[in-house]
Amino acid sequence: EGDPRLKAISDAITVVPHFPKPGIMFQDITTLVSNHKVFKHTVEIFVDRFRDMDISVVAGVEARGFMFAPSKALGIRTKFIPLRKPGQLPGEVIAEAYELEYGKDCLEMHVGAVESGERALVIDDLVATGGTLPATIRLLERNGGEVVECACVIGLPALKERRLLNGKPLYVLVEPR
Ligand code: PRP
Repeated sequence: EGDPRLKAISDAITVVPHFPKPGIMFQDITTLVSNHKVFKHTVEIFVDRFRDMDISVVAGVEARGFMFAPSKALGIRTKFIPLRKPGQLPGEVIAEAYELEYGKDCLEMHVGAVESGERALVIDDLVATGGTLPATIRLLERNGGEVVECACVIGLPALKERRLLNGKPLYVLVEPR
């Protein structure tokens, strides 16, 4: 893991203490995506990894996952599908609720966005408690997709060691700062 691109990625993330609530060390990725050289490193590392995995779907998680998923879909020439917060998709949807540290949230996916047997990746900016990604796996699997891997830019050490969510591999680039 001596790849200097990973250090550049980590260095480009800004920590904002006590945002949005006291005690939270917010991992601000706006300073990463505003640096096009470093942003491009994230695209290249993911695309190099995913290129030969026989993937045909890249799903991104609203909202910050949308900053990272589409470029990877284009890079490996697959379709991109958005997993959205409730009430935003116009077609028929399926929904999965999940627990947050305080309260609940929900993601929706268009029925028919993935075909039976399609091999999929889920991409998000960050995995924290690991509540969101299992819900995305359930969404894709309920529609017949096969989730090959979940991938995030930032992951907490405990989850990075486990690298598993619902039995699916979790790939992360850097630890929180
Ligand atoms: C953040 C982040 C992940 C999720 C990770 O999204 O972008 O999607 O939380 O947390 P978890 O591992 O504990 O589930 P958030 O719900 O804040 O929405 P946003 O992307 O719209 O800011």
